[in-house]
Amino acid sequence: MTQFKLPQAGTIEISPSILSADFAKLAAEIADVEAAGVKMLHLDIMDGHFVPNITFGPPIVAKLRKCSNLVFDTHLMITDPEKYAPRFIEAGSDHITFHIETVSDPVAFVEHLHSLGVTCGVTLNPETPVETIEAVAPLCDMVLVMTVHPGFGGQKFIDEAARKCTRIRQIVGDSVRIEVDGGVDPTTTPTVIEYGADTLVAGNAIFGQADRTAAINAIKNAYPTN
Ligand code: DX5
Ligand code: ZN
Repeated sequence: MTQFKLPQAGTIEISPSILSADFAKLAAEIADVEAAGVKMLHLDIMDGHFVPNITFGPPIVAKLRKCSNLVFDTHLMITDPEKYAPRFIEAGSDHITFHIETVSDPVAFVEHLHSLGVTCGVTLNPETPVETIEAVAPLCDMVLVMTVHPGFGGQKFIDEAARKCTRIRQIVGDSVRIEVDGGVDPTTTPTVIEYGADTLVAGNAIFGQADRTAAINAIKNAYPTN
């Protein structure tokens, strides 16, 4: 059973993506953002099939679990999430996000993930229409809107993809988080929040900077309410 819970909707949260961190010293990298006060950590899992890149699997997640109390926001960019999600949960993932393009019965999969004690999210690629997630999105705890083509950090933000947040917010209401992933930085933050996002994944904008606390504060200072 998962230890750490996705913060309830209603707050803006930052989920730093370790894809842009130094993989040779991950524990220290994570401690750095944890000390800066974030609650979530975004783990990008890539299998070389669904996306043209490979990252890491459950054994690394299990090791990281021992050195962090952050909510492990696990983004599965893999062709077979139904097979591997239980292994990530066993390793310490608190939240599982799967791609709508990879699952034949998303409603059943969401129910299964909830029965395993985790929160879950459904995500869609920049070119995937919102209609594909319309039925399952209200059952999820979060919808993840890809604002770059998945596979690599440091890509340019796709505004047209981010605009989908507005329609998704109409579908899910206020109790489901909307996360944006790709090219989120202090410049694009006001835009995504205006579109209805409340959960901001940032890789390069945090781990690509020398001072992670300053980088996180720069994003926070870009919230339109501040
Ligand atoms: C891309 C990943 C992202 C990535 C974002 O496939 O899903 O989480 O780390 O990186 P930035 O914030 O650098 O665009
Ligand atoms: Zn991601």
